[in-house]
Amino acid sequence: MEFKLKQMDTVVSGIRSTGNLHLGNYFGMVRNALKMQHDNRCFFFIADYHSLTTHPHPTDLHLNIRQVMAEYLACGVDPGVATLFIQSDVPEVCELYLLLNMNAYVGELERTASFKEKVRKQPDNVNAGLLTYPVLMAADIIIHRANKVPVGKDQEQHLEMTRRFARRFNTMYNVDYFPEPDAYNFGEELIKIPGLDGSGKMGKSEDNGIFLVDDEKTIRRKLMRAVTDTGPTKPNQKPSGPVKNLFTLMEVMSDPSTVEFFREKHASCEIRYGEMKKQLAEDINKFTAPIRERIKEIMADREYMARVVREGAEKARESAGKTIREVREIIGYRRF
Ligand code: TRP
Repeated sequence: MEFKLKQMDTVVSGIRSTGNLHLGNYFGMVRNALKMQHDNRCFFFIADYHSLTTHPHPTDLHLNIRQVMAEYLACGVDPGVATLFIQSDVPEVCELYLLLNMNAYVGELERTASFKEKVRKQPDNVNAGLLTYPVLMAADIIIHRANKVPVGKDQEQHLEMTRRFARRFNTMYNVDYFPEPDAYNFGEELIKIPGLDGSGKMGKSEDNGIFLVDDEKTIRRKLMRAVTDTGPTKPNQKPSGPVKNLFTLMEVMSDPSTVEFFREKHASCEIRYGEMKKQLAEDINKFTAPIRERIKEIMADREYMARVVREGAEKARESAGKTIREVREIIGYRRF
């Protein structure tokens, strides 16, 4: 009998250190990370180079990195099985970023949706780092030669570009070196968690989110202010955009029976949004309260955090260093 070892998939995903983790980060990325960490080769990191595009104050940057690290750990990312690290602890990624930049075209970078959005939102700070954001992200992923990237729907285009850059490298040097990674959600649609302002996704910079660290009162206050409408006017009316968003959140956070209850109320025009919001706030709090406690405990344990960060950097550098040596060889930077 032959026992074939199943080749493990390699997984990479990151979160920028621009603020606390919110429910969008949790359901877009962290939840899948937790499900994947035991049977894949996993790298999860804090994208603190990426966060420089918005020019954080050094004190804020440092605090944010610590906070996000504690939040990853509190959610259950296990540094015993996954490699958990800080992007800037692995400078090898900068070299791959530079090399990939030579084959990334300004035109395609300018057409990226996230870039165009930033140009609109921060016209006074359209730095080159914003333009090449997708190249650095591609470097993050392919430096570990990953094939799966658990992310939310908003990252789909970035993944498409990552595949293109990987393919371009392979073609240019006539090698089959980098895999072409996919945005991954267990074969299901990628997730988009809506914000509370009635419009787009929950985001860090949009001020429309619920953070894992928000206390019960804050969660309730934010929900009570969430945008709705004046209520359905005829039976079985389709919920309007903002109300649909609340239902989407409820589907993620609450029991199916709860969702069903409020759907029926909406269909029969008996819904009271205040009641629905109260229920949703309660369900969110039930979910985040234990995580919140763990965040506090971990933040207080500096020694533990320092060890996790040190060991994560070591493992990530080993993997990244191997790729860089091989890439240099492929490109033609050979030893004398
Ligand atoms: N762009 C991602 C976000 O905004 C963060 C990120 C940076 C990332 N590098 C990555 C995600 C590599 C996955 C893989 O959420």
